Amino acid sequence: MKRILVTGGTGYIGSHTIIELYKRDYEIDVLDNLYNSKITVLDKLEKITDKRPGFYQVDLCDKEKLDKVFAEHEYDIVMHFAGLKAVGESVEQPLKYYENNVGGTVNLLECMQKHGVKKIVFSSSATVYGEQDTPKYDESMSTGMGITNPYGETKHVIEEILKDVAESDPEFEAVILRYFNPVGNHPSGLLGEDPNDIPNNLMPIIMKVSRGEIPELSVYGDDYPTPDGSGIRDYIHVVDLARGHVAAIEKMKPGVLIYNLGTGKGTSVFEMIKAFEKASGRKLPYKVVGRRAGDLAEMYADPAKAEKELDWKTELTVEDAMRDTMTYLNNL
Ligand code: NAD
Ligand code: UD1
Repeated sequence: MKRILVTGGTGYIGSHTIIELYKRDYEIDVLDNLYNSKITVLDKLEKITDKRPGFYQVDLCDKEKLDKVFAEHEYDIVMHFAGLKAVGESVEQPLKYYENNVGGTVNLLECMQKHGVKKIVFSSSATVYGEQDTPKYDESMSTGMGITNPYGETKHVIEEILKDVAESDPEFEAVILRYFNPVGNHPSGLLGEDPNDIPNNLMPIIMKVSRGEIPELSVYGDDYPTPDGSGIRDYIHVVDLARGHVAAIEKMKPGVLIYNLGTGKGTSVFEMIKAFEKASGRKLPYKVVGRRAGDLAEMYADPAKAEKELDWKTELTVEDAMRDTMTYLNNL
């Protein structure tokens, strides 16, 4: 049985991916410093899957402890979700982001190298494309130009590091997955996006507004050149996203593979508000404010490459994500 080390495995996307990995019988250890997640996620994983991953509370920046984890087990694959992701905070504290995301990844790659682990799957982001002159983004497009925040820069730099390592070692296998906008949660409602930090993404903010923790949603602009004037993104159900990871590890080969994980369909902010209102049966208070610096009008994935090469495609909709979000919120 293959053994996988999942960094950031108690986080939102990592925990959902573990559920899908367990359906394929992988053995899993989680490494997380619990900066943005809770240890109770392991109990929830056990409730859903009847299996419990091994757990190391280790910071990727602590190379000594990291090394000890690799010394304890022989890993076949590392799935690397751990990272800081608050875009606004990254603008205010760029060094924290470079140290944690880039420095942490370098430590991880060094330990992998030292212990002969050759396979890594990395959580990247559509943000690496910057702004291009079409709303539909595919993997052949350039990256690294026009990234508007240090968080996005760390994703681009790590992608380049992985390519360099692959260049230096013909046996190294990396899959870079560029996520579009993950939303929703496991249908049990046990797991969800439960950040310790202040969210700046749309869905966690909608959730906080619906619970009364934030008085209203600020819609960042209704004057974009889109049908209803609000921004358009590609919202992918996290369960579909998780399935994409399983598909990816089954196709790994020497070198670097890069895939967009998205639905290929754009949804506007107003459409998201309407979908949430439909699922919750309640009005969501909002007001339209000015555009957010660095935002694009419209961005969605061309998922054709992942569909063809990974034999994967999304099956769930924004409506499914909203229904599952309500189950999660009603469970809290
Ligand atoms: P998350 O914050 O829920 O999970 C990340 C986990 O990594 C957390 O549990 C956190 O405690 C852990 N972590 C952070 N720094 C660490 C360190 N130095 N050592 C050990 N653990 C550390 O975030 P998520 O939404 O699950 O995102 C997972 C990955 O996907 C991240 O790399 C993120 O940048 C990337 N990504 C997320 C989105 C999104 O919208 N959620 C979009 C694109 C890419
Ligand atoms: C943002 C980040 C991007 C990061 C991605 C995933 C910026 C400029 N971009 O992208 O770098 O990779 O998250 O973490 O921060 N919106 C509102 N009100 C809100 C929040 C969002 O109207 O309170 C709108 C946005 O303008 C956008 C859409 O909702 O049109 C989605 O926003 P968000 O969830 O932040 O994702 P991205 O903008 O795609």
